[in-house]
Amino acid sequence: MTELARERIDPTTRIGKSELKNFVIAASGCYNRGAEFGRVTDVSAYGAITLKSVTLQPRLGNGMPRVLPAPAGLLNAIGLQGPGIEHFLAHDAPHLREVQTAVIASVAGFSVAEFAEVAARMDGLPNVVAIELDVSCPNVDREGECFAANPESTADVVRAVKARVRLPVIAKLTPNVTDVKPIARAAESAGADAISLINAVRGMAIDVARSQPWLANVSGGLTGPAIRPIAVLAVWEAAQAVRIPIIGMGGIETGRDALEFVLAGASAVAIGTANFRNPDVAALVADALVDAAAERGLTSVRALVGSANPSFAGERSH
Ligand SMILES: Cc1cc2nc3c(=O)[nH]c(=O)nc-3n(C[C@H](O)[C@H](O)[C@H](O)COP(=O)(O)O)c2cc1C
Repeated sequence: MTELARERIDPTTRIGKSELKNFVIAASGCYNRGAEFGRVTDVSAYGAITLKSVTLQPRLGNGMPRVLPAPAGLLNAIGLQGPGIEHFLAHDAPHLREVQTAVIASVAGFSVAEFAEVAARMDGLPNVVAIELDVSCPNVDREGECFAANPESTADVVRAVKARVRLPVIAKLTPNVTDVKPIARAAESAGADAISLINAVRGMAIDVARSQPWLANVSGGLTGPAIRPIAVLAVWEAAQAVRIPIIGMGGIETGRDALEFVLAGASAVAIGTANFRNPDVAALVADALVDAAAERGLTSVRALVGSANPSFAGERSH
């Protein structure tokens, strides 16, 4: 195996019909449109950034406290705080053209109709190359069951959104299920152009001094390095179940971490919590993936995708 010069390695990837300049994406809820991060780092190191999920109505989110350090991670229960789609379109969307890289819009909803309505209004905004659906929300029409816990509900959301938008649609799946494969397959069959996983793992902490749950919401979502093995397995299994591209995330802090996801079958990786500790993490990870391809004598990062996974169902690039 001959090591190739870094300049000869193709770093790009594809999500549906959208090409990204590299494999590394900022995860939803951890970067917004990068305005604050732009003061301390180069946002354009990301192949794309994912916006905070936008809902139909404005939401105050959960009460305080709603963020807590956890062993090797973060426990949060923000509760989808946000201004709602009207305010987003009037005040945030005009700034999207200033973002120095591609943008993935994220939609959250509590009914199928809400997802479709918000997604339709995000379609065609400046710089937006794909729409991600945060199907980890509770479905009010099914007694609050999480959409992504159920293949039919996941498919219903994807189908309704696909009927209203032209951009590629990414279904973001939850790890809080026994088996992610039927849900990934349901998203693919309903027309999703890609899936992303994982969202936060459910958890809680108790403040023993007060004898009370630490978070005002009682439970929250665990993110960061603590969840990485859970995330790698979810990507590994999803990659055996679907042919569409997979965006892998959960605890990525280094190039080595990202490479695990790519070898398991991810055609892109996303980074959330690590941005809070190291705002320069994107460049570090993107460069390391190119180095990994070079060391193996490959001409593209894409050629690494799924190479540790014998039952990888996606298309291999050589
Ligand atoms: C503070 C915070 C807010 C988040 N908000 C959202 C959100 O609005 N929509 C969403 O799909 N995921 C949200 N996530 C989940 C992340 O996008 C990501 O799936 C998860 O954090 C795992 O990646 P990480 O371990 O690199 O952080 C949030 C995560 C954190 C830490």
